[in-house]
Amino acid sequence: PKIHFLEFGGREHLIEVPAGTSVMQAAVDNNVPGIDGDCGGECACATCHVYVEPAWLEKTGERTVPEDELLNFASTAQENSRLACQIRMDDALDGLRVRLPESQH
Ligand code: FES
Repeated sequence: PKIHFLEFGGREHLIEVPAGTSVMQAAVDNNVPGIDGDCGGECACATCHVYVEPAWLEKTGERTVPEDELLNFASTAQENSRLACQIRMDDALDGLRVRLPESQH
């Protein structure tokens, strides 16, 4: 499935990854700037914070409990904030669009 990453500055990256890959891993493996994934996907660093485009919110599902707790500390968090390491790509998410926060610019 494919993912569109929109950098804060407006640059767009279209990345294709195998199903089962996390959105964080997809960004890190393809050098998308703004997603560091410092904790390796353990839901502990929040350097993989993204905003899910509203049209995709329902499909990406609910935040996990630790994810929700971490995002509650992020001053830049919005209602559509997710941690990219907690979203696994599958065919239902093909074409997913996420934006990167200004703080990760
Ligand atoms: Fe650290 Fe997602 S990679 S919270």
